[in-house]
Amino acid sequence: MKIDVLTIFPEFFSQVFDFGIIRRAKLAGIVEIAVHDIRNYATDKHRMVDDRPFGGGDGMVLKPEPIFAAIENLIGTSERDQFPQGTRVVLLTPQGRQFEQRTAKEFAQVATHIVLICGRYEGVDERVNAALVTDEISIGDYVLSGGEPAAVVVVDSIVRLLPDALGSETSAENDSFSNGLLDCPHYTRPASYRGMDVPQVLLEGNHAEIEKWRAAQALEKTRRIRSDLLTGENGESESR
Ligand code: 6GU
Repeated sequence: MKIDVLTIFPEFFSQVFDFGIIRRAKLAGIVEIAVHDIRNYATDKHRMVDDRPFGGGDGMVLKPEPIFAAIENLIGTSERDQFPQGTRVVLLTPQGRQFEQRTAKEFAQVATHIVLICGRYEGVDERVNAALVTDEISIGDYVLSGGEPAAVVVVDSIVRLLPDALGSETSAENDSFSNGLLDCPHYTRPASYRGMDVPQVLLEGNHAEIEKWRAAQALEKTRRIRSDLLTGENGESESR
């Protein structure tokens, strides 16, 4: 998979893809990630990437021309209908559809080339959306000052699902959300710590009993913390 990130803050990403599973996936040739400064595609003499909104109002809007030029350079065309199969152009804004585990799975399975456009919260010229974008995505109901943190979230959640990205010692199968539930609690040594004991069943080595306990704990925790995952509604959940 090839991932290109378009941003006005390329330094934001200077090390963020160099750790853990993403680093391993890059070294193994499973994914190639490149970050591009939108300003490098500006052609006017001041290399402007944003401008004031038509109709007035606060803030600046990202101009269309540098983004169209970047897409033409990275994909070979700025005609969405002409994009090669497996190409997705993702615009990251709070107006997008909510990114979920199933979205990450879908991208990991069908996409071969993903271009992530990091919006700034004041906006991106709508012609970008109209002509180039295949998916407008938000990572949740809160406002970020730019799409950059969201790009990191989207890249991480997709890359770890690519075939062979997780080592054999780990697996995405028991992840929270992959089965619609939160993950169960985990423990390691010591068996007793500050008066808090590891549940006895985990120490006894009966794997059928351990799996039963884990399933029950996952269900109980989901009901307590995220009952909306069980009912499809936004229920109350406990706070500490
Ligand atoms: Cl993708 N961008 C911004 N600016 N804010 C967000 C977001 C994205 N997702 C949630 N809030």
